[in-house]
Amino acid sequence: MSKPPSQKLLRGRVLDFNAEPQDATDTSAYTYLTDGAILIEGGRIADVGTFADVAQRAPAAEIVDHRPNLLMAGFIDTHVHFPQVQVIASWGAQLLDWLNTYTFPEETRFAEVAHAEAMASKFYDLLTAHGTTTAVAYCSVHKESAEAFFGEAARRNMCMIGGKVMMDRNAPDGLRDTPQTGYDDSKDLIAKWHGKGRAHYAITPRFAITSTPEQLEMTGALVAEHADCFVQTHLSENHDEIAFTAELYPDAPDYLGVYETYGLLTPKMLLGHSIHLTPREIDLLAQTRAKPVFCPTSNLFLGSGLFDDAGLRGKGICNAIATDIGAGTSYSMLQTLNEGYKILQLQGQKLHPLRAFHWITRGNAVALGLEDKIGTLAAGSDADIVVLDARATPASALRMERAETLSEELFILQMLGDDRAVSEVYVAGVSAKTETQTHDRLALTA
Ligand code: GUN
Ligand code: FE
Repeated sequence: MSKPPSQKLLRGRVLDFNAEPQDATDTSAYTYLTDGAILIEGGRIADVGTFADVAQRAPAAEIVDHRPNLLMAGFIDTHVHFPQVQVIASWGAQLLDWLNTYTFPEETRFAEVAHAEAMASKFYDLLTAHGTTTAVAYCSVHKESAEAFFGEAARRNMCMIGGKVMMDRNAPDGLRDTPQTGYDDSKDLIAKWHGKGRAHYAITPRFAITSTPEQLEMTGALVAEHADCFVQTHLSENHDEIAFTAELYPDAPDYLGVYETYGLLTPKMLLGHSIHLTPREIDLLAQTRAKPVFCPTSNLFLGSGLFDDAGLRGKGICNAIATDIGAGTSYSMLQTLNEGYKILQLQGQKLHPLRAFHWITRGNAVALGLEDKIGTLAAGSDADIVVLDARATPASALRMERAETLSEELFILQMLGDDRAVSEVYVAGVSAKTETQTHDRLALTA
């Protein structure tokens, strides 16, 4: 008789969303089990329910007791720059100067395979430590950087979305492709990686300023030829950027109109920032179902502006949320929510913790159209799970003494949490955070 596949049963408090909570009292949007369990088998979630029920249905499962911590779906970061891990915290500039002074010189280093591979490994260690199990990433212009990005994700069995950036002007030597090489390299990468294991490809024109009309034309061809790939770029982040774009594309009605002209707007398109929008652009986003991506720590760091979440949502637009490392200042989606909360406060808008935690899990998965695989704990989903400890630091432990409800606990995590609040992470059912830490300790003592 063949041995049954091994089963792991995680015990703890379980929180899982099935819809976006409309307000603080919307208990129909989620399930919260004070003594819950998640059964993992073959990298997927096989069962979820109360511990008593699930344990009875799977008597042979190995039990991992995470009580009193909170189990939820792994976090999803929908906009991050993998070659900017050593750009984060670079002083003093706003967008265009920041790109020219710090970011472009740093990204030239990713032409070197060994460097790209070393940074990919650090990048995934950091994401994992912060509870992020899926990210949508920009690689550098070099095909090699995308190879390193996808290769390392495959070794770790992580669900990753990314693409090499296409950029053929307004960038230094060593950081430009051509319309033809950008097209060819993207095409090769799609053939090699898209749909392999847990990988998805994102066709990635960096932004209008760094692409000629010829390159955007060929990008449109790629999008038409690969309708199942994601598309990502930047939109209306900064006033000088918008003015320069208008100079470069004088015939376009507005910034989004540039991407519209070349046929890039689809429901699979992610538009980083989308801060300073005209009414026409907002209507076009609603019509095409392209997704704005809110990057709070980055928008504050670069002084870019305040994302109008309520205004866009009011038009029926589905917004994603992200770190935007390395203009973003934290890998933590919890810290991203913290700064997001404050940006909305400045505009008289609210971010309730239930909606906040929905956003960084199922909400971002819905924006990606991947909610049947990631972002929830539904049976059949990939077993990407975070274990959260709201008492991980002295300050949060002290605050937790006065917390009485789930919402209060979530808000404490949202405002005070970071990687220290992430006590364990499972990637496709395998514990990944403590393994990484053990690995680091071994490396230090070697
Ligand atoms: N616009 C074009 N490239 C970038 C980038 O790398 N970061 C940010 N924040 N905005 C951009
Ligand atoms: Fe960005």
